[in-house]
Amino acid sequence: MKKKTVRDLSDAQLRDKRALLRVDFNVPLDANGEITDDTRIRAALPTIELLLERGARPVILSHLGRPKGKPEQKYSLQPVAERLTELVGSDVIFVESTDSDEALKASQNLKSGQVLLLENTRFLGGEEKNDPRLARALAELGDCFVNDAFGAAHRAHASTVGVAEHLRPAVAGLLMDMELEYLGSALANPKRPFVAILGGAKISGKIDVIEQLLPKVDGLLIGGAMACTFYKAMGLETGKSLVEEDRVPMAKDLLARAGMRLTLPHDAMVAPSLEQATAAKAVPRNGIPRDQAMFDIGPQTAASYSRAIASAKTIIWNGPMGVFETPPFDRGTRAIAEAMASATAKGATTIVGGGDSAAAVAEAGLEKKMSHVSTGGGASLEFLEGKKLPGVEVLDNA
Ligand code: 3PG
Repeated sequence: MKKKTVRDLSDAQLRDKRALLRVDFNVPLDANGEITDDTRIRAALPTIELLLERGARPVILSHLGRPKGKPEQKYSLQPVAERLTELVGSDVIFVESTDSDEALKASQNLKSGQVLLLENTRFLGGEEKNDPRLARALAELGDCFVNDAFGAAHRAHASTVGVAEHLRPAVAGLLMDMELEYLGSALANPKRPFVAILGGAKISGKIDVIEQLLPKVDGLLIGGAMACTFYKAMGLETGKSLVEEDRVPMAKDLLARAGMRLTLPHDAMVAPSLEQATAAKAVPRNGIPRDQAMFDIGPQTAASYSRAIASAKTIIWNGPMGVFETPPFDRGTRAIAEAMASATAKGATTIVGGGDSAAAVAEAGLEKKMSHVSTGGGASLEFLEGKKLPGVEVLDNA
């Protein structure tokens, strides 16, 4: 069901009104508290700017990290407030509380053109429990609710779901709308051939997405250590590779059902251990030595997956092909990112499903060369699994 967006709100609903805006400013910080990647802050700018242009007063809520329901300095949104000030070019007021008279007053006293950012919602004990009292208190902070936190849409928390039950209209922000549009139309109405590439360490985390995608795609290309659980199911030697023994029967069943649509890497980059990456070598998949482990797809696989990507019209990618943080095991992931960038240039729709694959694309400097890089990790995975996202469900229908 299509959801209303901030664009659907009338002037009467926005002008001079406090727009309570939930975003996902859960950005990575280094040991000095410096933001190492501000993609998620930039991604929320179009909604903030639209609200300002239409005369609304944005009151922003976000979580950061996983503090356990109480304040922890290292998870403060203070550095985010500073970055937001630089990016938004208007006056950003930061209040170091959220469920307080101070926060409520700051929202009421906010002037046109100003932006208010409140402290981390996960400093509040009731946030992750979706506590009704907290949800009502948060609802007091705005005159309408705009949810732009796609990355947190799979969480039924007070600031993503509970608040919307007390504050209407409740609509999607521009980022949320774009995420749902790209991921949704790829699944519902893909231009064909439609190819999905799935990587990552564990088959257990991807089983639902494989099940969901298999009937829809023309090809499903597997990479990452999860390939080894499939190898085991095929009776191949996997050496010291990560294998989920308890998932081998499931992998066997999937292989039988998927037929030609599921492709496993033909070759692998192996080494005795990650620490001995300099000893890495390529071997065929039926030649993994007993004393070595697979840490990346091999060069032949990288080339054949790249050809499959080049001939597709819609490509979805989730999960790295190898341990991309440790060269040379970044080569497979890089090759996929480059093949997707070339496919985009030739008119294909390319979608990177957030999390580690988005980080790998950013590291390769290719994020602008994809049709869409999701800002959601867990959220995009759950969307691809066909699950309903509670933070989306609760919003007004269009
Ligand atoms: C994310 O980083 O995927 C989102 O911000 C959600 O964070 P969480 O997994 O801590 O809920």
